[in-house]
Amino acid sequence: MAKSQLPPDFLWGFATAAYQIEGAVHEDGRADSIWDTFCRQPGKIADASSGEVACDSYRRTSQDIELLKSIGAKAYRFSLSWSRIIPLGGRDDPVNEKGLQHYVHFVDDLRAAGIEPLVTLYHWDLPDNLEKRYGGLLNKDEFVQDFTHYAKVVFEALAGQVKYFITFNEPWCVAVHGYQKGIFAPGRTSDRSVNPEGDGSREPWIVAHSMLVAHGHAVKLFRDEFKPKHGGRIAITLNGDWGEPWDKNDPKDVAAVQRKQEFFIGWHGDPIYFGDYPASMREQLQDRLPEFTEEERAIVKGSNDFYGMNHYCADYVRHIEGVPAADDVTGNTELLKVNKEGERIGPETQSSWLTPNPLGFRKLLNWISNRYDHPTIYVTENGTSLKGENDLPIDQLLEDDFRVQFFEDYIGAMADAYTLDKIDVQGYMAWSLLDNFEWAEGYETRFGVTYVDYEHGQTRHPKKSARMIRHMFDSVIRK
Ligand code: NOJ
Repeated sequence: MAKSQLPPDFLWGFATAAYQIEGAVHEDGRADSIWDTFCRQPGKIADASSGEVACDSYRRTSQDIELLKSIGAKAYRFSLSWSRIIPLGGRDDPVNEKGLQHYVHFVDDLRAAGIEPLVTLYHWDLPDNLEKRYGGLLNKDEFVQDFTHYAKVVFEALAGQVKYFITFNEPWCVAVHGYQKGIFAPGRTSDRSVNPEGDGSREPWIVAHSMLVAHGHAVKLFRDEFKPKHGGRIAITLNGDWGEPWDKNDPKDVAAVQRKQEFFIGWHGDPIYFGDYPASMREQLQDRLPEFTEEERAIVKGSNDFYGMNHYCADYVRHIEGVPAADDVTGNTELLKVNKEGERIGPETQSSWLTPNPLGFRKLLNWISNRYDHPTIYVTENGTSLKGENDLPIDQLLEDDFRVQFFEDYIGAMADAYTLDKIDVQGYMAWSLLDNFEWAEGYETRFGVTYVDYEHGQTRHPKKSARMIRHMFDSVIRK
């Protein structure tokens, strides 16, 4: 059988996010984001680190562009720091021209190098002032207006040069890790012994609703005022993992897989494609799940020009008996790495949650495509860490065969999805261009195709995977 292929204009490259790579947190008028303040709280980050220096990418834009060019990237997905552009965050607060111009120049330089920019507006780093001023994402009305204003400032500066905008990155992570588990900024948790204020068990649903409505408004603004003149496309990026039943012979576990996907992906995907939350969520959560007003529904429904898909791993899904906890975000399911027969879903990595499974990627592409009527999909992130990578001597670390195999398998699975399953996948951004600040895991987890030597001046050393990816794409993209 002929090898599966990808379309000739397939867009591939690498992804990063502002707080994870930029550093220079006090430079050119930037103010704190919620991640700056979160990292200062003892015990929040595994190695007690922060994004204060990170990869120093704010000061090394030309070096990063050279790197992208040298490894053949056609595209680069990065995020903007709202706190650089509007340091105090709000619609009546001043725009910081220096911060804004930094990105204008960066985009110009990328284009001059022949690299297509994909720009994420919100990769988790809310200006801290908005958190303090009105409770950030918990305050829907204020947040939506401020986000839309920020989006407008960005579109005015960049819409002529940027053809792909992403409003929010992984709202699921923001809602769950930031407001239920408390392991991400702003570190709120529905455990009242930790967070006695407010109705913690509703917070994940409230902030998700805020992000969906804010996304809808930003998209409407873009379509009304910028797209007619400049063209371009805009979408949200949703994360999703694949799931297999823990016991494939138990109909309850089979049903649990679907329910888990609805809680995970449908939570944000269904309102965008269908105008409402999944029925399974409404049934479990009842009035703890916000309702869309008619105006909100109209603005959110149909608000994706493409489906932005972040994907990393797979799990076995097990049905939990009994009444779900008030703050349950899983559809009353449990995620496991080993099934009833004792088989593992994938190899271990440095991150306990991450177990790669390339066939699961292909199946998830199919699941998304079927559920949402065959949208064009851009894989906006996919990548892996390696268990113990950080402890290896540099020469071994640079020979990252594990990651080379990972990309081989995933790109192959994606080509199969395109060729054999007729899934309309048009782009792929590997996570990540650089080793970087892996949020609560700090710097010990390395996702980069480029080794960053944090101890010796943030020097960059491309790993084998960085050099190999272009060959993988060369061999699958149809000429
Ligand atoms: C997805 C997130 O968007 C990114 O910021 C993170 O570093 C990767 N997952 C790896 O965990």
